Amino acid sequence: MVKRSPVARRLEKINPSSIRRAFSISQRAPSVINLGIGEPDFTSPKHVIDAAKQALDEGKTHYPPTAGVPQLREALAKKAKRDYDLNYDPDNDMLVTVGAAEAVFLALLAFVNPGDEVLLFDPGFVCYEPDVLIAGGVPIFVPLGERDGFKLDVDAVMSQVTDKSRVIIINSPNNPTGAVFSHDALLKLSKLAVERDLIVISDEVYEKIIYDDVKHSCLATFPGMRERTIVVNSFSKTYAMTGFRVGYALGPKELIEPMMKVHQYSVACVDGAAQYAAVAALDGPQDCIKTMVTEFTRRRRLMYKRINEIRDFSSTLPKGAFYIFANIKQFKTPSTQFADYLATEGKVATISGSAFGENGEGFLRLSYATSYEKIEEAMDRIENAVKKLG
Ligand SMILES: Cc1ncc(COP(=O)(O)O)c(C=O)c1O
Repeated sequence: MVKRSPVARRLEKINPSSIRRAFSISQRAPSVINLGIGEPDFTSPKHVIDAAKQALDEGKTHYPPTAGVPQLREALAKKAKRDYDLNYDPDNDMLVTVGAAEAVFLALLAFVNPGDEVLLFDPGFVCYEPDVLIAGGVPIFVPLGERDGFKLDVDAVMSQVTDKSRVIIINSPNNPTGAVFSHDALLKLSKLAVERDLIVISDEVYEKIIYDDVKHSCLATFPGMRERTIVVNSFSKTYAMTGFRVGYALGPKELIEPMMKVHQYSVACVDGAAQYAAVAALDGPQDCIKTMVTEFTRRRRLMYKRINEIRDFSSTLPKGAFYIFANIKQFKTPSTQFADYLATEGKVATISGSAFGENGEGFLRLSYATSYEKIEEAMDRIENAVKKLG
């Protein structure tokens, strides 16, 4: 056994994610319904799986290029043009990564110096804070309030900007709240980013999972933003391809090149067969997205209705992603404890809101990326567990 502490100081403040905890609860006890899950329950579309198989059958088993296979980069350039009228050069302005997760991490390692401040929202996606800390940055939290439907409050951002602010991470549609930031708010934010010379990491992994008449705005489309925005996206949510681990970053060459250095010397490149599957996802039929979103819409209505009928629960109707961020403050119990109670007594795994930041305390994140029937059963179980509290 080594005598000195074997763990590097940069990891001292990093705790394991409580999402893993929900995962292991439901793995250990199969009778538990898992509403903690952050991935579509659908299998990837057949044509996507076939493309991966075909690539392997054709012997595409060698190291792919660092930046990603040319076919995928071409397809990504076309997608950016088609969806947002944005021009990205396949040779210089993009990098294929191991999921969106790697893209965010690379961007922070590439642009954050020790002591630089990185603006994050609270509640927010669980990876951001640890990623900032590992990169040596200082996370500065901007609270998102339930009263306003967790909407983007640019004045609150402005009040946290200092001379040390370097990067801001935006995530819309949002995990865990399901909020979609409005065009006007993003426009105001983009003016602030330009004025204060911030680099923006825009995590848009839920761009296609939106409901009703809500519109998603890609941050790079706002004036002055293309040059300072790293658009992060992935195939995980849109095409139910979480296990393929393919994501990407779009941005000007000046921002992509430094990220490429870290990518090259760490993971080297992304699984080749998975990249061909991603090409099939982009170039193939898109009705799989509609089918999934139609089903999510049905489940969202069900969960929203049922959760608000349970005593002392309340929630706003999410506009995007596949989570309900339910207020449980009336129970006057810490949310981790309450999630544990629901897991043991109700046999339903949820994620404590505090996993997403201090401001998430008093909430539970419930995912509706599970079958309609399981959601019905889970709501019955939660209702019964709450009744037992008296
Ligand atoms: C907001 C957000 N960003 C990034 C990711 C990571 O996605 P990927 O599977 O592409 O790494 C997730 C996954 O839950 C997420 O919710």
